[in-house]
Amino acid sequence: MNQQTLLMCHPNYYQVEYQINPWMRQLNIVKQAQALTQWQALQMAIEDCGGTIEYIEPQPKLPDMTFTANGGLVVGRQFFVSRFKYEQRQAEAAWFAQWFDQHGYQVIELDGGCFEGNGDAMIMGESIIGGYGWRTDPTVYTALAQNVNYAVVTCELVDPRFYHLDTCFLPISETQALCYLPALSEASVQRLTNHHITLIDIPLEEAQHFAANAIKINQHMIIPSNCPATQAILESLQFTVHCVDMTEFIYAGGACRCLTLPLVQG
Ligand code: ARG
Repeated sequence: MNQQTLLMCHPNYYQVEYQINPWMRQLNIVKQAQALTQWQALQMAIEDCGGTIEYIEPQPKLPDMTFTANGGLVVGRQFFVSRFKYEQRQAEAAWFAQWFDQHGYQVIELDGGCFEGNGDAMIMGESIIGGYGWRTDPTVYTALAQNVNYAVVTCELVDPRFYHLDTCFLPISETQALCYLPALSEASVQRLTNHHITLIDIPLEEAQHFAANAIKINQHMIIPSNCPATQAILESLQFTVHCVDMTEFIYAGGACRCLTLPLVQG
C-alpha cells in the first residue's frame, strides 16, 4: 500500500467570479454552504480511504485556489510551480511556491510558457503524461523532461469543455487510463497507444459530470456522483468506488481530483 498525501485548500473564498472556461458561464451561483459541505465530504472520503491531507491557507480574491491540482506538479522532492494562463489565477503561484519552499521542496519554474501543474501533467508509471492545448503550452514539457527521470508523453486537448487533462483522463494503473477519447487529438491517442497505454472510453454524459476527475487511493476510487457507467467500469476492475456530490465545484469546471494535489509522487 502506498502512502497518499494530498494538499487541499479550504473553499473559504471559492466563488464563480470570472469566466475562464466554458463551465463558468453563470456567475455567482455557487451556494457557499453547500460547497463547504461537499468539500468536507471529499475530505472525509479521502481519510476513510486511508489518505492523509495537508493544507494550504486560502487567500482572499483567489477564488480558484481551492483547486490545488493547478498549483504545480510534485516529482519526488521537486515542485514545478505553475505559470497560470489567465491573470485571474496568476497570483496563486507565489502562494504555492512559498508553501512548498517552507515544506522543504526544491521549487522550480519551468521555462517555455504556461503550465497548470497536476491538472495537466500526471505521473503514470515511468512516464509523465503532459496535457496541453488550453492552459499549458507544449514547450514546457521539453523543460520538464530535462529535470526528471520520466519519459514525457505529450497529449493534446481539443475540446474546450475538457481544458485540463484531468477533466477527461484518469490513470488507473501504470498502463491503463479511463478517458473521454474525443477530448484528445487523434495523434495524441495514437501516441499514448504507442506508449503501451490502454485507454478505456467513458461516455460524454459522464465525462460532463467529471467522471474522470477522480482520486485514486490504492484500490479506492473517489468519483463525482451521477457516473454509474464509470462506477461499473471501475468496480469491474476491482476498485472500491466512493461517490461524492461535487455539483458546486462543477460550476467552476472542477471536481474531486482538482481539489487535491498529490504530495508524494515519484
Ligand atoms: N475555475 C478553475 C479554472 O478554470 C477550475 C480548475 C479546475 N482544475 C482542474 N485541474 N481541472 O482554472
